[in-house]
Amino acid sequence: MFAVSTSNVSTQFGTQTKKISSSVRSRKSCHQQKKIVTITKAAFKTDNSQRIFKEAQDLLPGGVNSPVRAFKSVGGQPIVFDRVKGPYAFDVDGNKYVDYVGSWGPAICGHANDQVNAALIKQLEKGTSFGAPCELENTLAKMVIDRVPSVEMVRFCNSGTEACLSVLRVMRAHTGREKIIKFEGCYHGHADPFLVQAGSGVMTLGLPDSPGVPKGATGTTLCASYNDIESVKKIFAENKDEIAGVILEPVVGNSGFIVPDKSFLEGLRTECDANGALLCFDEVMTGFRVDKGCAQAYFGVTPDLTTMGKVIGGGLPVGAYGGKREIMEIVAPAGPMYQAGTLSGNPLAMTAGIETLNILSQPGAYEEMDRKTKTLIEGILKAGKDNGHAVCGGNIRGMFGFFFCEGPVKSFQDATKSDLDKFGRWHRGMLERGVYLAPSQYEAGFTGMQHSDEDIAYTIKMANEVMATL
Ligand SMILES: Cc1ncc(COP(=O)(O)O)c(C=O)c1O
Repeated sequence: MFAVSTSNVSTQFGTQTKKISSSVRSRKSCHQQKKIVTITKAAFKTDNSQRIFKEAQDLLPGGVNSPVRAFKSVGGQPIVFDRVKGPYAFDVDGNKYVDYVGSWGPAICGHANDQVNAALIKQLEKGTSFGAPCELENTLAKMVIDRVPSVEMVRFCNSGTEACLSVLRVMRAHTGREKIIKFEGCYHGHADPFLVQAGSGVMTLGLPDSPGVPKGATGTTLCASYNDIESVKKIFAENKDEIAGVILEPVVGNSGFIVPDKSFLEGLRTECDANGALLCFDEVMTGFRVDKGCAQAYFGVTPDLTTMGKVIGGGLPVGAYGGKREIMEIVAPAGPMYQAGTLSGNPLAMTAGIETLNILSQPGAYEEMDRKTKTLIEGILKAGKDNGHAVCGGNIRGMFGFFFCEGPVKSFQDATKSDLDKFGRWHRGMLERGVYLAPSQYEAGFTGMQHSDEDIAYTIKMANEVMATL
């Protein structure tokens, strides 16, 4: 039974009792939001979560369908969700959380957004999968091409992983070369060639690489250091005319949140041009999150190719890759490079993407996200410093993160200086107070349009409380 009533929301947490009242902006469109948020720390009950997760461990490897969800790096058991709405998640024990994971990025317009839902229900009546062309594919393609500087033609698929492994094939097919440069700590999905120094997922589990990946698959993957253009120049010099392309997260979210130097991105553009290689921004995380035109518009550096996912699916499974027409026309059936998908361009997924991008087109959407996220991260950093902790961090629009170490953090190596034990205690403390953060130091946090000033203020208040206990 949920501890959620019509007049207030009670959440049982911990061993003490604390009451926090904050007026939450009421929105007719978000029926789960209440005027008053009351957090009662009488007992942070997780009995149902524990029972369900215990059963899941017999049924699913590690009890989950994607590793970071298992809370391995922060300790304790994962929370099992029952439902989500707006900026909130509700678990199977009746606890309510302000959610800064947002399904790992897609929930930028708030969970179960009414506008997205209404369009989905309408589409549902017309069928969930066609396996044939539909006009919705054109609509979303035009929206992407219109917004993203590098994209003149796009192919939709079903996940970020699929987008990245396909774009790699495009880079190789277009250049006739095999080697690629990636960066330490950047994640591009779980395809074999990318599972080299691949950031959060593998780092969270302490796996430098994954067994089962043949040497042949990674032998052509060369790793450089993020924000270090000299390390890229060196690889180009040592592999003359052999590099098909360079792929990177234009803002890193899979080693924690790391911002690129603009000169680094510009340097990559120059190096790729000088060496006949293609530049690919993996915008699966940053796409439509840091800017309407993705990170490439934000930084003013245009790659040849772009991968997308998360936001573009508005909560349904979508990936996409796109780029210059002359490059993309190599993809079958326009050209000889094979890539396909039974559910690619699925009408439901296209619908969710279209409505999500429509909502994000509202004037000031990104500026508002930036303002709120800045308040949030500055509040958390101040809470850390006021309580004597070394902390550094920041945000770009709706993407943020911080480390428990002195900054600046410019690369994965810098990120490893963060105090992971402290992060684990921080994570648990916030969870017990109704704030759901990514269960790994090596993940970025996400805000959405529906996080209210009151949600942010509440989170900062809890951050102060937790920082004092670390
Ligand atoms: C930058 C980046 N690329 C690719 C992926 C893989 O996407 P998916 O999990 O949809 O396969 C992710 C997932 O988090 C990502 O952050």
